Amino acid sequence: MAAGGGIAAVTFLSCAILLLPLVAAALLPENNNSGQENGRKLRIINPFYLEPEMNATSSPPPGQVDPILVPEPVGPPEYGSEMPEPGQGPTLIEGFYGRSCPRAEMIVNQTINEYFSKDPTLAPAYVRLFLHDCLVNGCDASILLDETPSGEDVEKKAPHNGKFVRGFEAIDEIKSQLEAECPGVVSCADILAYTNRDALVYTGVPPYQVAAGRRDGLVSLAKNVEHNIPLPDAPAEHMVKLFARKGLSLEELVVLTGAHSIGSAHCSIVSGRFFDPRKTADIDPGYLIKMRSLTFCEDDSQDLPFDPYSQQKMDSRFYKELLAKKALLESDQNLANEPRGNAVMKRYVGDQQGWLKKFTSSIKKVGEMDVLTGDRGEIRRQCRFVN
Ligand code: HEM
Repeated sequence: MAAGGGIAAVTFLSCAILLLPLVAAALLPENNNSGQENGRKLRIINPFYLEPEMNATSSPPPGQVDPILVPEPVGPPEYGSEMPEPGQGPTLIEGFYGRSCPRAEMIVNQTINEYFSKDPTLAPAYVRLFLHDCLVNGCDASILLDETPSGEDVEKKAPHNGKFVRGFEAIDEIKSQLEAECPGVVSCADILAYTNRDALVYTGVPPYQVAAGRRDGLVSLAKNVEHNIPLPDAPAEHMVKLFARKGLSLEELVVLTGAHSIGSAHCSIVSGRFFDPRKTADIDPGYLIKMRSLTFCEDDSQDLPFDPYSQQKMDSRFYKELLAKKALLESDQNLANEPRGNAVMKRYVGDQQGWLKKFTSSIKKVGEMDVLTGDRGEIRRQCRFVN
């Protein structure tokens, strides 16, 4: 059986390698354009733009999940046969929709990439959306609900989320396309896992397969958010404990927060620290002057990039800034100051491939948090409402 699997894998890979030039040729012109467009947009939105090193990435072209990595369809298991008993842990499967909705991942990928090509700054938002869904009540798409049966405030209304999470419109569009293609099959929770993967790939993480089979939660409560999402000024100890509760180690926490190498923060969330005498001793003096000149926060739509050098590329070089006390976010600085966090950053700062590998395994773990499988939860018809 193992030998058969090996032969199948070798055959599959050989075919994929042979097809690669054709696929690349088909994709190249479009990707080149979007790459240039990314570069231009990046210069505009990044007030710190210093050097074009972010464009020198060996990562796959933005936009597409590499077709050779799309898993062979295996189809969902018969519920009741292969699904675990409650409490036995999740059974998520790569290629879960292979039989029930074969084009599911492709539909997600194409739609979300259209959004990214219009606005590349959206990609990080889907990484955050996924994280904030999974940290509260597990990866059950509870963050997408506009209302909950009890009538209480939902997760997206909690102050920790509110205007600091975005990207709901594309999820709605993807869901309606999937409902038209295969009604009642693809969960909103899996859509979030796929869009998270596609956002990471778009920003330079090597393509990886997403195990799926999550079902959607029936409850979403703002009051559950506070104790599960760390604040921008969280002490290291608090973050370590919170992530440990979710089954993630200190190393995984530090590796995952490296996702702040993409995206931005609202000025109003970060600026206070640069004017608070109790906190400024912990900030590089040159960086402090620069930040004070920039964080005027005229209106709250102003965003500041976490990584001034490569806002749209996932890279461990970002740790260099934190190790030099040039963190935009106090929580990131706190992790860099914690001796074990500091050691993790030093290990990965010059090891981009090692970091991406650890990042990928860690984000897969995030995607398994308290998932609903089997007959728990439901497959929502609309992601904003329970059925
Ligand atoms: C553990 C402590 C963490 C804290 C305190 C924290 C806090 C924050 C804050 C305050 C923002 C800015 C929000 C805004 O102003 O719009 C942010 C953005 C972001 N966070 Fe985190 N975060 C943490 C961990 C993580 C992790 C583990 C990941 C990834 C797995 C992550 C991914 C992101 C991304 C991608 C953004 C940019 C979002 C965008 O540009 O729309 N964060 N985070």
